Amino acid sequence: MPARVVVGVQWGDEGKGKIIDILASRADVVVRSQGGNNAGHTVENGGQVYKLQLIPSGILYPETLCLLGSGVVINPKGILGEIDALEARGISCQLLRIDPRAHVIMPWHLLLDGLSEQMRGKAEIGTTKKGIGPCYMDKAERSGLRIYDLVHPELFAQKARAAGEMKNRLLTEFYHAKPVDLDAMIDEYTAYGRRLAPYVADVSVLAYNALKEGKEVLFEGAQGTLLDIDYGTYPFVTSSHPVSGGVCVGSGIGPTLIDEVIGAAKAYTTRVGAGPFPTELLDEVGDEIRNRGHEFGTVTGRPRRCGWFDAVILRHSVRVNGLTALAINKIDTLSGMGPLKVCVAYKKADGSVVEDFPATIEELAQCQPVYEELPGFAGDLSGCRSFEELPEACKNYIRELERICQCPIRMVGVGPSREQNLER
Ligand code: GDP
Ligand code: IMO
Ligand code: MG
Repeated sequence: MPARVVVGVQWGDEGKGKIIDILASRADVVVRSQGGNNAGHTVENGGQVYKLQLIPSGILYPETLCLLGSGVVINPKGILGEIDALEARGISCQLLRIDPRAHVIMPWHLLLDGLSEQMRGKAEIGTTKKGIGPCYMDKAERSGLRIYDLVHPELFAQKARAAGEMKNRLLTEFYHAKPVDLDAMIDEYTAYGRRLAPYVADVSVLAYNALKEGKEVLFEGAQGTLLDIDYGTYPFVTSSHPVSGGVCVGSGIGPTLIDEVIGAAKAYTTRVGAGPFPTELLDEVGDEIRNRGHEFGTVTGRPRRCGWFDAVILRHSVRVNGLTALAINKIDTLSGMGPLKVCVAYKKADGSVVEDFPATIEELAQCQPVYEELPGFAGDLSGCRSFEELPEACKNYIRELERICQCPIRMVGVGPSREQNLER
């Protein structure tokens, strides 16, 4: 009963969608455990490009059960839009299921995400403004609305009105913003609830039963380890647990059931939104990576900040996630760029060398990257179909990353499509 987890090991957008799509060809079930439509997972297949936000990337396989666990936050309008868009393209969402415990992103969450960012001013986090933080705040505060509520109209009307009255006071009295029209909101959300009702099922039970029956279950991480609310660069993080441990809580599966944890990484580093980024390149090399790699946000279209591969981050991710293997994507982007730098440690102003990723951004701010330079490689790699076909210098680059990161690299990406993934 193989249960495999795929997590992002940098700041998101490592190509998790592509890896899930590839592994899902052998899986019976794909589960998302955290995050919401702040995620943007790209899958390219047969000349078609799909940008999935909430729906698991296994949806392109018609017989794969796709589950959204209790740890996911659901924007009802967002998910219905995604279902409609997929079905219009001939992709059935009949095997999609949503856990009744998952929290609902309400209109005030979207408003408060924007208003609190505005209030932070220069210290803004650079969120996707999808209401993710405010929704998880209410979950932790125990005042949130859940999918179960949404699909029970009377319960929903009562709970949503009570919550809305409180939030309207916050919106008007603290932020001096317009209140939410509660009657209109209840009508609108009740209609969403009616459409979502057939999709509701206990994800913990479904995933557990599938594993007991010997089926293959794949857990699709969203965001990345450095966006984890504890193990990322707090407060410049998301509000959930993108690390492998988050899978257990967010899908109701115990850790003893998980067999493999695969970390998705890029051959360089990117980040959208604000916060520290030790290997960031603010020069023409950074621009070159952005242009070659088309590094623009899937959800917000923002240019992604780009920098060299950071093995300090990778080793942190190997430890925090208990990685059993790595998938390195976008090696093709670096082809022809000359010598390649890899950050192997950080150095502080007093000359001391830091090997472990610092726990706080205050300590991280004192660190400068220490680079090792590796020979570059050239040529069009996008047509390579086996690791052996890669240029020798490229193979050496991968072997070096493997050594420095202390984790086996099992997959190498030379392009965005299914067949451009080289298994080792
Ligand atoms: P995710 O959020 O981790 O699923 O990643 P995104 O979809 O946000 O961003 C990854 C981008 O890189 C997408 O546009 C993918 O199609 C693309 N991609 C993934 N793997 C490769 C690869 O090996 N080479 C190239 N050139 N593009 C890739
Ligand atoms: P995928 O799954 C990259 C970032 C935002 C911001 C911070 C907080 O596609 O890898 P939020 O809206 O979550 O409160 O924003 O987290 N962020 C992501 N960056 N990829 C993602 O998802 C992200 N989801 C959130 O840019 O810096
Ligand atoms: Mg993405």
